[in-house]
Amino acid sequence: MLKSRILITCPKGMPPFLKQELIDENFPVLSENIAGVETEGSLDDAMRLNLSLRTGHRVLFTLKEFPARDAGELYRVLHDIAWEQHIPVDGYLCITSSVENPTIKDSRFANLKCKDAIVDRIKEKCGIRPDSGPDRDRSVVHLYWKNDRGTVYLDTSGEPLSRRGYRKIPLGAPMQETLAAAVVLATGWNGTGNFINPMCGSGTLAIEAALIGLDRAPGLLRSNFGFMHLKGYNAARWSELREKVRKESKKSLPGQVIATDINPDAVEAAKKNAATAGVEQCIEFSVCNFSDTPLPGNSGVIVMNPEYGERMGEVKRLEATYKDIGDYFKQKCRGYTGYVFTGSPDLAKKVSLKPKRTFQFFNSGIECRLLEYELYEGTRKFKKPKLIQD
Ligand SMILES: C[S@@+](CC[C@H](N)C(=O)[O-])C[C@H]1O[C@@H](n2cnc3c(N)ncnc32)[C@H](O)[C@@H]1O
Repeated sequence: MLKSRILITCPKGMPPFLKQELIDENFPVLSENIAGVETEGSLDDAMRLNLSLRTGHRVLFTLKEFPARDAGELYRVLHDIAWEQHIPVDGYLCITSSVENPTIKDSRFANLKCKDAIVDRIKEKCGIRPDSGPDRDRSVVHLYWKNDRGTVYLDTSGEPLSRRGYRKIPLGAPMQETLAAAVVLATGWNGTGNFINPMCGSGTLAIEAALIGLDRAPGLLRSNFGFMHLKGYNAARWSELREKVRKESKKSLPGQVIATDINPDAVEAAKKNAATAGVEQCIEFSVCNFSDTPLPGNSGVIVMNPEYGERMGEVKRLEATYKDIGDYFKQKCRGYTGYVFTGSPDLAKKVSLKPKRTFQFFNSGIECRLLEYELYEGTRKFKKPKLIQD
């Protein structure tokens, strides 16, 4: 089967986790940048990656790298590609792009040129042409064009993989599913021991933890991917891949996942989302203030994602919440490893504990930190509160 370079995109901060996932799946890592990791493989491998990756957003299969100084050259190069072998003539095509070329003021123009080259070519070869538009739920082609070099990819994911399909009821400020998976991976939780998620909101962290603990491929939850709308898509092979990963996943969790929130609507939504993800039996839900969350045993991880507010009044109120989180960690969570995910370094300081490690992430473009606190057991004294430094 023809192999090519495969670029997997992800939000900034996540490449280390994505890279580890690729290594675990026995894929080579060819290169890494701030928002993606490159590997290589066939279209069959691209299907496997869509099925198994937790932190990747789009699996882009390289068709051609080329020189192009301007839109005319771009059209000619793209028109030479045998698109009729990749895009169904009676299908629907969407072009996405990332363009930084001095002759192009509006990337939509580059998209239009790209789309014209593809549909003109198919019309010339086959007599008819696919429809085109902005929807990403069928064939998607991605154009990367920087200065006078371009790469064109088949986007085998289509809709980004962060849309797992289980979050039917998002509440407030939900965390993207891929980010939640990276946060769980950062904690090192692997299914054994306790995973406690007070302030669970719509349940994303607890659901991703359960999926990770069960070794359940997130792609099992989705019924549509870009590769299904490419010529030569082998539905029987896809079923076979799905069946294989389904068999490999665990039936139940050795550890315990507990998710709570003060808002009953949030807990209701989280339960429904967990049911859609097929993991509701692995998570114990309850409505309570975070500090009343039941803590079984005396070890495990506690992950909290409090709001980090933008308005002044909110920030004042949240200062008290962050202080309470610090007190809760100190007084009730000894033996556990505590984590706070926040976009506000000032609020994080109110926890008044020195983080052992920090991870940098980006949530909807906002720079965020996952702060890790070791909450010592027994008589060992807590370290004197210090200002957080990266
Ligand atoms: C930023 S949201 C969490 C979003 C969540 N990670 C998700 O993906 O949906 C913060 C949550 O904290 C909850 N919350 C706020 N104060 C709380 C408290 N004192 N005790 C428990 N939950 C609280 C809110 O109801 C809200 O659902």
